[in-house]
Amino acid sequence: MHKPMPEKGCESSEIFAQLEAFKTCDPQYKEGRVWSLVYYLDEEHSAFIKEAYHRYACENGLNPGAFKSLKKMETEVISATADILNGTDEVCGVITSGGTESCLMAVKTYRDMAKAERRVKKPEMVIPTTAHVAWFKAAEYFNVRIRLVPLNKDFKPDLKKLKKMVNRNTVMILGSAPEYPHGIIDPIEEMGAIAQQKKIPLHVDACVGGFILPFMEMNGESLPRWDYRVPGVTSISADIHKYGYAAKGASTITYRNLDYLRYQMFVYEDWPGGIFASSALLGTRPGGAYAAAWGITRYFGKQGYRSLAVKTLDAVNQLKAGIGSIPELQIIGAPQGPLFSYRSIDPDVNIYAVGDQMDASGWQVNRNQHPPGLHAMVTAQHLQVVDNYLHDLRAAVATVKQNPELANSGGAATYGMMAHVPLRGMVKKKVLEMYSEQYRAGGGEMDIAAAGPGAGGEGLLDKLVARYVQRKSRG
Ligand SMILES: Cc1ncc(COP(=O)(O)O)c(C=O)c1O
Repeated sequence: MHKPMPEKGCESSEIFAQLEAFKTCDPQYKEGRVWSLVYYLDEEHSAFIKEAYHRYACENGLNPGAFKSLKKMETEVISATADILNGTDEVCGVITSGGTESCLMAVKTYRDMAKAERRVKKPEMVIPTTAHVAWFKAAEYFNVRIRLVPLNKDFKPDLKKLKKMVNRNTVMILGSAPEYPHGIIDPIEEMGAIAQQKKIPLHVDACVGGFILPFMEMNGESLPRWDYRVPGVTSISADIHKYGYAAKGASTITYRNLDYLRYQMFVYEDWPGGIFASSALLGTRPGGAYAAAWGITRYFGKQGYRSLAVKTLDAVNQLKAGIGSIPELQIIGAPQGPLFSYRSIDPDVNIYAVGDQMDASGWQVNRNQHPPGLHAMVTAQHLQVVDNYLHDLRAAVATVKQNPELANSGGAATYGMMAHVPLRGMVKKKVLEMYSEQYRAGGGEMDIAAAGPGAGGEGLLDKLVARYVQRKSRG
């Protein structure tokens, strides 16, 4: 049943009260208990981005010739981004609504470029297994076949295999700085050399790392090169709404020069509504998000971002050391940025059961799969909760070790079982069914947190596994 629109309008105070009330069922991120999704610092910072957003909430960046203020802000944000990414004056780009839009645009650009310049008819892209899911979405949307590069033992892409996968249909190669699942920076210099040798564009997905790795390096951290200093790199996505601490709805996609960017543009000259041109996916572009993105780069400046990077890395190092001192656990690979994941190396300690215990202690910890693990996206705010987190993690491991049967109940059982459901097509079909159910007219009661591994909840998967078990028991 649809809930009808109210006949009469309400007082704004009443609406604001309701909006605040809705928040009680959301993750309580202000105490640093959430390890994904939000980049919260403090109330002063929050008030600043809200105010900047609010001042341009009605303005539209669709047409750069109309709201010149927004175009100016966009140009300045792109210049600042090119600066921290060590680009030349030729680096150009666009603000997008988020990381996914930036990734989608890179695929569209390189597909169209290969079509126009090399007559490629069956486009393919070569991407590591750890590429963000946005790239899989882009491949599906733009009909580009994926060649998936397997990982070595260090969780970095196997470059020999990568090289072999590049062929005349390849429109782009992808590397990440860092990849999301384990926080590992792909070997971009080596990938750049392959890209140059094969004359194929190389995109670096720095959606999550783009606004922190440069400041870590400025602080003296020794990191592998991954930005425009690497000759083969032709474009980079970097999100301001992640470690740039902007309001939601702001990422950047930049290209080494205009020869690439022009393939991202869309122009339709025969529309009855007039000649239409657009620089990225959206039509209407939210002025508020651009104002907040522009504002935050001025609010912090390089010094502010560098000090946030110091705090973040301090938290990351303390967490990694603490986890490293728990004999049952191991950090996966050698992550160098603000994210990492860890797994169990003790057969009696089920890592998903550890996750359940952490949830029960009030943390929101994401699950990884292939291999099973727990994930942490660390911000400067987490520095204040490191000790509590490690205390609860030690207790969680001890509880699971003493009660190995915990692996057979709750989320642990669900995730464990999911990894063993052999028919991945069936998993996909059922998840789609349940997801659609939540979006049917009138909206089902959404169990939003339970969308799948990594989303942090179990409800939807529980149902899925129950159906699978039912089906199996029926033979
Ligand atoms: C490496 C990487 N690429 C792309 C994305 C997608 O970004 P968004 O969620 O803003 O669409 C993410 C999100 O975490 C990411 O980590």
